[in-house]
Amino acid sequence: MEALKDVRILDMTHVQAGPTCSQLLAWMGADVIKFENPQGDATRGQLRDVPNADSLYFTMLNCNKRSITVNMKTAEGKAVFADLLKKCDIIMENFGPGVLERFGFGWDKIREVNPKIVMGSIKGFGSTGPYSDFKAYENVAQAMGGSMSTTGVPDGPPFVTGAQIGDSGTGLHLAIGLLGALHQARRTGKGQYVEVAMMDGVMNLCRVKFRDHQRLTRGELSEFSVPTYKGMGETPRAGNDSGGGQLGNAIHCKPHGANDWLYIVVQEAVWDALAKRIGPDIGMPELASDPHFAKIGERRKNQQLMWTLINKFAEKFTKRELMAILNPLNVPCGPIMSTEDLANDEHVRGREMWVELDHPQRGKWFNVGMPIKLSESPAVIKRSPLLGEHTEEVLKDVLGYDDAKVGALKGAGAFTAPPKKAAK
Ligand SMILES: CC(C)(COP(=O)(O)OP(=O)(O)OC[C@H]1O[C@@H](n2cnc3c(N)ncnc32)[C@H](O)[C@@H]1OP(=O)(O)O)[C@@H](O)C(=O)NCCC(=O)NCCS
Repeated sequence: MEALKDVRILDMTHVQAGPTCSQLLAWMGADVIKFENPQGDATRGQLRDVPNADSLYFTMLNCNKRSITVNMKTAEGKAVFADLLKKCDIIMENFGPGVLERFGFGWDKIREVNPKIVMGSIKGFGSTGPYSDFKAYENVAQAMGGSMSTTGVPDGPPFVTGAQIGDSGTGLHLAIGLLGALHQARRTGKGQYVEVAMMDGVMNLCRVKFRDHQRLTRGELSEFSVPTYKGMGETPRAGNDSGGGQLGNAIHCKPHGANDWLYIVVQEAVWDALAKRIGPDIGMPELASDPHFAKIGERRKNQQLMWTLINKFAEKFTKRELMAILNPLNVPCGPIMSTEDLANDEHVRGREMWVELDHPQRGKWFNVGMPIKLSESPAVIKRSPLLGEHTEEVLKDVLGYDDAKVGALKGAGAFTAPPKKAAK
């Protein structure tokens, strides 16, 4: 965990989009100080599966961080915040529009306090433009960034994708921006503001759909299994089509349960070997030379029939058996793996992508591991912090406050929420 060993991050992020980013940076060795309001990140209590324990929603996104609670609605809390700004290389946040400004700490103020600091902000739609005042969650970003309109089948409703491209995807974009800006700040002594809008991040991940959008002005999309035509305008939903230059689809296998599917890409180069293997079994020994399929152009035109034939062959095999038949033929393919499959998969465990951890409130639990493997500084994953677990430690070690100062700030309510007013 050496890569970002000398980088300290003041992490005001909450929910998923920001914490995804700061967890990755923590896994690369940054000292991430999770700066929470005294009630804590709302996800600590969301979707709880163990009473009185931080939820998995929180624990899975906040490993390797230190937690301090500071009430930014007090003058003392703001003073602690300003002191921390001077000791950090990066500050990051993903509040709704205007929250930091209401604290009195917009970017202009922050860079006045520390001109070297890099600031990362995630917003639903950025700080400019007609949508800039709106809040956003994952599926709002998927809806507005082009993902939902291109996911599903043409005559069904638009679908969200399970991968959290709006939240976690935006967190990844922010991590790249922060590391670039930090590199520049170290060279020039000058920080900068890094903004990633969730809508922009989703559009970036839907880039190939905009490729197809423009191709539709010149003609149909011959690789699509659903109808397309010149001048169609919007890129249609195309089920499980590959979305690339090669034909691909999910094939249903034995025993035909919800996840008994194998995704197959019929790469141009493999058709001959594939057709020779499946043709005899489905009563078409000449399939490889059948003019309906022999050339890529014909296979595109007749792809529904091609998928029917491959499905017919697949009926007799499980997804793993079919994979074992296709791999030696060099056919790119992969079984649709459920969360249960993945949690028990030897390959996944071997690559430390399903990691067991302990937690004082919840006991044993699992986190998805670090997908970025650094050969010289592999991640060592440690549990998420309890709320305010490191408040004193950070005040003393990072800011050099003594007991008297910490006590006075505590007395002034800098680290706690004001008591709720009794209902009348
Ligand atoms: C996610 C989101 C919709 C949540 O909305 P929300 O729960 O209303 O939270 P907000 O971020 O708007 O506001 C946070 C509140 O906590 C308060 N707060 C936060 N940290 C605090 C602290 N340390 N001390 C005191 N108050 C604090 C803020 O002052 C704010 O209250 P205010 O509205 O009275 O100013 C919103 O934060 C958002 O749109 N974020 C940007 C996009 C994003 O990241 N979305 C994906 C999340 S996974």
